[in-house]
Amino acid sequence: MHATPESPAIVSPGALKTSFSIEPMSPVIGAEIGNIDLTQPLDDDQYAALRAALLKHKLLVFRDQDISAAQQVALAQRFGELEVHPVFPHHPDHPELVMLGGDSKIPGRENIYHSDVSWRALPSMGSMLRCIECPKVGGDTIWVNMAEAFARLPEATRNALEGLIAVHDLLPAFGTRMTPEERESRRAAFPPVMHPVVRTHPETGERVLYVNEAFTTHLANFIEKNEVRFGFDFRLAEMDLLQHLYRQAAVPEYQVRLKWRPNTIAFWDNRSTQHYAIQDYFPARRRMLRATIIGDAPV
Ligand code: SIN
Repeated sequence: MHATPESPAIVSPGALKTSFSIEPMSPVIGAEIGNIDLTQPLDDDQYAALRAALLKHKLLVFRDQDISAAQQVALAQRFGELEVHPVFPHHPDHPELVMLGGDSKIPGRENIYHSDVSWRALPSMGSMLRCIECPKVGGDTIWVNMAEAFARLPEATRNALEGLIAVHDLLPAFGTRMTPEERESRRAAFPPVMHPVVRTHPETGERVLYVNEAFTTHLANFIEKNEVRFGFDFRLAEMDLLQHLYRQAAVPEYQVRLKWRPNTIAFWDNRSTQHYAIQDYFPARRRMLRATIIGDAPV
């Protein structure tokens, strides 16, 4: 299903034959899905309705889903091919599941706004995160609707962003955990990539602000696009603009916040959202398993 900005292909989940319930979590992002058993494979109607719900709400939350690691992999694979992350530790039997979280020795480090693996040439379409263990209080996750963030920018800013290209890199966020040799080998395997600052969602046609403070390092063509004075305005003006754009993810009006329980699953669209896992629970334990679905090249 591909759409142009003029003809968004978004289908109302209600228009599809389905038995599950959809309860919005906020006016702008997120819906809780009820009356569904994810231990059972999705039939074609359920799959189509969930995909439509994902496009509409951008984040779907399922409670009390006591599924195995193998079932999580199978569920995520229904939505596309899964990646193997080159840095995070994996589940011992399922390399497609990364183990995230923190404990009394190592605090979790997912507390920075980001869209998963935007440093890949083909960044993620979506991620499916299951809570195995979490503190009674704390360790919530925030998601942000980045199409809303783009739409609410002043028109002059939106126009100024057209045609700008951003560079995304895994090393600033992940390199600090690596030895110098590991940094060299990851640099060779994953060179920085370039994506448009504003991407068009391949299924809905929405325009999305696609820079994030974790992985976007700089702009590739700020100077040509803005005809700035090289020695005076180039780097500082570019950094000011990027910081202004990063900050859009922190606007509460574009956000929703999820309180986890064991066996809660969150499934989100990485093409149109960012997220931030709140690190307020150290030294308590939080254990999560994430499957990450490969997407397409942002345009
Ligand atoms: C992630 O950053 O993908 C994980 C978010 C979380 O652990 O809540």
